[in-house]
Amino acid sequence: MNSESMIELLNRFLEAELMAVEYYAIHADAITEPEIAEGVRAIIPAEESHAANLATRIKELGGVPVAAGGEASRKGREMGEESKRSGTLAMLKLELMQEQLAIKAYAEPVADIVDDMVTVEMLEEQLFDEMRHAKWLKQRIIALEKKAP
Ligand SMILES: [Fe+2]
Ligand SMILES: [Fe+2]
Repeated sequence: MNSESMIELLNRFLEAELMAVEYYAIHADAITEPEIAEGVRAIIPAEESHAANLATRIKELGGVPVAAGGEASRKGREMGEESKRSGTLAMLKLELMQEQLAIKAYAEPVADIVDDMVTVEMLEEQLFDEMRHAKWLKQRIIALEKKAP
């Protein structure tokens, strides 16, 4: 992969992380079950550090990272505000879907990149974080669905 397409790819990942920070924050405030809200809130620093790591790597590769507070953040807030009206289960399902997309998105370059181990190792760590987030969300979703009538 040439550095231009690498920068482009990392910026798409950065946009997704910036969106995640926004909808997780909105959901953490909206979820009424304290234990679930706390767990969702605990994910936010991980997504913030993913965004920071990606921005740093993009700069190291000579690119310009997309900025927080722009279009991606706006889209993330919109996702958060729209989904929060549908309740906790719907919020968790949206979060899980996004984590599943991130896992698949990170896995491909982890598999494919041959000549940039710095980027691969960063993406590996983020992939593992997203796998942990997805697992936690699946457990909460199953528990809530059992409780539902
Ligand atoms: Fe992330
Ligand atoms: Fe995540």
